[in-house]
Amino acid sequence: MSKYKGDEPDLNRITIRPVVLKNQHLLSFLYEYKTNHITKNLTIEQSIAFFQAELGNHFFNAHLLSDEWEMQLSVTKKGKVLMKKYPNKNKTTQDKTNASHDRAKNRFVEQDRPYLRELGVTDARSNVIPAMSRKWKQINKFIEVLSRAIDNTGLANHQKVHIADFGSGKAYLTFAVHDYFVDKLQVKTEVTGVELRQNLVDLCNKTAHKLSLEGIKFEQGDVQHFKAQGINIMIALHACDIATDYAIHMGIRTGAEIIMCSPCCHKQIRPQMKSPTMLAPLLQHGIHMGQEAEMVTDGLRALLLEANGYDTQVFEFISLEHTSKNKMILAQKRKQPRDNTAILAQIQSIKEFYGIKEQCLESLLMSS
Ligand SMILES: C[S@@+](CC[C@H](N)C(=O)[O-])C[C@H]1O[C@@H](n2cnc3c(N)ncnc32)[C@H](O)[C@@H]1O
Repeated sequence: MSKYKGDEPDLNRITIRPVVLKNQHLLSFLYEYKTNHITKNLTIEQSIAFFQAELGNHFFNAHLLSDEWEMQLSVTKKGKVLMKKYPNKNKTTQDKTNASHDRAKNRFVEQDRPYLRELGVTDARSNVIPAMSRKWKQINKFIEVLSRAIDNTGLANHQKVHIADFGSGKAYLTFAVHDYFVDKLQVKTEVTGVELRQNLVDLCNKTAHKLSLEGIKFEQGDVQHFKAQGINIMIALHACDIATDYAIHMGIRTGAEIIMCSPCCHKQIRPQMKSPTMLAPLLQHGIHMGQEAEMVTDGLRALLLEANGYDTQVFEFISLEHTSKNKMILAQKRKQPRDNTAILAQIQSIKEFYGIKEQCLESLLMSS
């Protein structure tokens, strides 16, 4: 709905889309102001009453878009109502096929969410900008994986959820997780993005302010010195080297129900590793040595999480064609602790086999 002539000088238009929240079909109204956006969800009956009250009184244009048709309604100064209906010419057959395919595939994140537009993932018509299609896939996969973990841990039933994202960068995933909890699950959420680079912190805080989002903030800090408490979900995606260990440690120490990390650059273990002579012909290739160091580093992290009360999976986050940093360690806190004697023994055997003297996460756990 556009051509607004009401009391709110900064209101440009309202964009409305159908949503299903807690099994109820609603319409989500996005009020687009000059500098910020506000969302209100109304029942179908409330929406009809709203349209009847507003169209022709405050809004003088309405544009209805379906897969097949577009309808343009305008109300003239003299109160005459004009309506045009025409096939949706902005979508080619190819587009339509892709759009419905995408919708089916990407059911965890909706393309018209305002943060996606603000972060430059989608354009003004909520189409994914081609250069951002990998990021779009990553955001979807991330929310898909997270949503399963949320179901398993029952976090959607909490009154309030605290989330920390270490090494939040440009915060695509930080905004996505906030939006998922607040808009989809309707759970009160406090999300903190922690990032080394002040310029990114400022940019992300500005974006949150522009979108009028509550419960999301960004702080400049180093994960190695950051003090946090009461975190339910600890996220560290592509935090460099041992920053991942510090983030996992913080998740364990604060009793996070979900720890989700995608490690990046494995520098600590590789120089310490001594492999059996028999493997030398294989490991003479730097790439193989790197892959082995990565496997050992992340394997030890997973075992340490298991030893500290978590069920842990290590898997491909998104397929190799999308990004090279595609491994995920997902840990979900067990309801009942387990006897960890055997796991601790496995960790020691692996360290001895490879001649590893120090692994950052293990040292942090021992000193806390
Ligand atoms: C590759 S980016 C990933 C951003 C985001 N998590 C994502 O996956 O899209 C890694 C970010 O972590 C930040 N970073 C690296 N080490 C850090 C540390 N010790 N503490 C806080 N942030 C860190 C970097 O500045 C960078 O912005």
